[in-house]
Amino acid sequence: MTKTIAVTGGLGFIGSHTVVELIEAGYSPVIIDNLSNSTLSVLDGIEKISGIRPTCYTLNVLETSELEAIFNTHQVDAVIHFAAFKAVGESVLKPLDYYHNNVGGLISLLNAMKNTGRNQLVFSSSCTVYGQPQTLPVTENSPFSKAESPYGQTKKIGEEMLMDISKTGMKTISLRYFNPVGAHPSALIGELPLGIPNNLVPFITQTAAGWRKQLTVFGNDYQTHDGTCIRDYIHVVDLAKAHVKAIEYLSKTEAMFTAFNIGTGQGLTVLEVIKAFEETTQIQLNYQIGLRRKGDIEKVWADSSKANAELGWEAKFDLHQMMRDAWKWQGQLPITI
Ligand code: WQD
Repeated sequence: MTKTIAVTGGLGFIGSHTVVELIEAGYSPVIIDNLSNSTLSVLDGIEKISGIRPTCYTLNVLETSELEAIFNTHQVDAVIHFAAFKAVGESVLKPLDYYHNNVGGLISLLNAMKNTGRNQLVFSSSCTVYGQPQTLPVTENSPFSKAESPYGQTKKIGEEMLMDISKTGMKTISLRYFNPVGAHPSALIGELPLGIPNNLVPFITQTAAGWRKQLTVFGNDYQTHDGTCIRDYIHVVDLAKAHVKAIEYLSKTEAMFTAFNIGTGQGLTVLEVIKAFEETTQIQLNYQIGLRRKGDIEKVWADSSKANAELGWEAKFDLHQMMRDAWKWQGQLPITI
């Protein structure tokens, strides 16, 4: 019997790639997305890749009774919750919007699940819950640190809520993403260029494409081998596959709350990412060294051995493949400024 998985935020960057992997693994996804950070054209890409056009409801997860109707209509077996605002800088300017949407949205979803007897949830979390870890690589037992932003705080609150709610029969998994980058190798889906990118890799590709004049490297005076910050960049398809493994794990585990770091385990500096992009594309990138960005932590990368062992998942794409796929996606985007 095909399992039906409700995917909130399923037209987003990571959500859409996860929908593709769910279909390929034999699941039947139902998408719920309010298009606040996506467009219905993403459905066309999903259909072209998978041959299936999933049912999609344009709905805000704050609409609890609407969620309940969808869960009952489709006999949903489990839920993957992506729907949230995720721009760190924006969250500092609009904290109330972030708490209302991200925390309020999760509460609404959990109520809809409770009221319709759904009790399996995969939650989209983030390495931002760790802040600047004291020891590296960071494991799931590393303490939550003071969040650097309201965005990070909403992820911390979300996880702490799930830990409490798991004691009432809701079985949940929290996937702590590191830095998702790249796009589907087909270039049919990827990260939509909505506004000026906050993140490094879309800014690199848009600079190389001439959409942006120059990339600014935010600081080269950190305590790292080349002075620039270190992050754990992971291909979005590897990240999507981790969600399929998490759904499988949920149906088997007795544990009511489990967290997994989803990263490659390799830390790379900003300059190393730029170098990899230049080598992969043979394009010399126009960049300058600027001041540090407020709120940036110096270095973080994952110990993902728990996900490797317990989920049977590991990252397969390397940095050059990430850069290749990010550039291929950029190349098919309509010219825009
Ligand atoms: C990476 C590095 C910047 C832009 C992201 C998401 C967050 C979470 C973790 C999922 C930093 C530098 C960037 C630029 C630069 N993911 N940089 N020039 O801040 O690690 O956070 O991953 O939840 O949601 O935002 O990613 O790509 O913004 O920055 O020098 O124009 O690149 O200083 O060192 P970050 P990022």
